[in-house]
Amino acid sequence: MNVSDSEVVASILARDGYTPVNSAEEADLVLLNTCSIREKAEYTVLQRINEMNNLKARNKGLKVGVLGCMAERMREDLLEKKKVVDLVVGPDAYRTLPELLEKVGTGQKAVNVLLSREETYGEIEPVRLGTNGVTAFVTIMRGCDNMCAFCVVPFTRGRERSRDATSIVRECEQLVRDGYREVTLLGQNVDSYKWRPVQSAENGIVDFADLLEMVAVACPTLRIRYSTSHPKDMTDKVLAVMARYDNICKYIHLPVQSGSSEVLKRMNRGYDRVWYLERIASIRRHMPDCAISTDIIAGYCGETEADHQETLSLMEEVGYDMAFMFKYSERPKTLAARKYPDDVPEEEKGRRLAEIIELQKRKSAERTAGYVGQIHEVLIEGVSKRSNDHLYGRNSQNNVVIVARQVVGGKTNAEGSRSLKPGDFVRVRITSATAGSLQGEVLDVLNHQPALA
Ligand code: 5AD
Ligand code: SF4
Repeated sequence: MNVSDSEVVASILARDGYTPVNSAEEADLVLLNTCSIREKAEYTVLQRINEMNNLKARNKGLKVGVLGCMAERMREDLLEKKKVVDLVVGPDAYRTLPELLEKVGTGQKAVNVLLSREETYGEIEPVRLGTNGVTAFVTIMRGCDNMCAFCVVPFTRGRERSRDATSIVRECEQLVRDGYREVTLLGQNVDSYKWRPVQSAENGIVDFADLLEMVAVACPTLRIRYSTSHPKDMTDKVLAVMARYDNICKYIHLPVQSGSSEVLKRMNRGYDRVWYLERIASIRRHMPDCAISTDIIAGYCGETEADHQETLSLMEEVGYDMAFMFKYSERPKTLAARKYPDDVPEEEKGRRLAEIIELQKRKSAERTAGYVGQIHEVLIEGVSKRSNDHLYGRNSQNNVVIVARQVVGGKTNAEGSRSLKPGDFVRVRITSATAGSLQGEVLDVLNHQPALA
């Protein structure tokens, strides 16, 4: 999400004559795009802000801005407490950056943290930053109306609003023209995407399943991913569209947060364990080969040992391919901060998290081991960190797959080369697996993605 936001900011600044540079040392303006989701994320940003003092000492003309959720949450506080900061801009105020920068240019400090009910940056064509030229993000909605009790996002990013579907499709078509092979559609809760074409009747509403289908049909050579789903809103209609189109990846990120219905109730998640497991069963019914990942919070307010055991047993039952796992961290203003004491001792949170991580490691290893011997279609994204002779890519299930750069047996890619490159789409036999990645042997180089099923 923040990468995508930074690309919108880069686009707005490009119109104002700014161009990106490769390091903060070369810059006249440094903008830190921030996240408030956990205290640790904010702590990291505060350290980065402090580091800016050194840069400013060396480059007196340097201006420093803070963007995103922390800007929204801490506002003027940031300007007062961190003298190095010249500019504070919340996630809905990026269009005002040129005026704010003008003010900063006259030696004043500038702030705009107004949230909006309408802003989607819909027609802004992002400037792709740090891109591999193969995969890109497209934001389809902003904000969140869910009010999960632990979460600061509804306060920092404001009310939910969906972006014009036609502008989303246009952006994806442009990606194809620019040579991209994969897009990830982004929103805090994509399942509540809803867009009504102007002057259309009630039944003209485009929901997320419709949007997915529109992109899949308009861009048959583009791989499509999306994030994040919400278990209370994920419909069978979405699953049916996923199953119908080969160019939609078989991978769903479905955060569960806890396996205990009691805890889920206190989290205000809008579903219980039984409902969640039914959604998992429905995914498996529609797409037996679909990978599923999740988010889990350890040590939420009032979580008992029995609740924790329920999380472990749910993980055992689902067998996630991957998980993001966190200790609960109380966030200001949230319902949990106001209503429930953060009463699980730090040490206990740590122990529970370690157990969750340990179990997930085992489950990930089981899932990847099951892929050995199978044939997967892999989109090559870049050079492997470990070896220049190897490239990495991803299969539909979002596993990283490592293959040799040189293909053997007379096979060539679209340009007639035997050396693979990012953007090539290959059929791979999986030869071995670790918990984190798969290794494979290239069988064929496909010159294009498999189109519609
Ligand atoms: N403490 C710990 N984890 C949190 N998340 C969101 N808020 C908190 C919090 N206060 C996690 C959730 C969410 C992911 C993006 O971050 O698991 O799905
Ligand atoms: Fe936060 Fe819940 Fe919205 Fe996700 S769905 S952003 S966890 S409030």
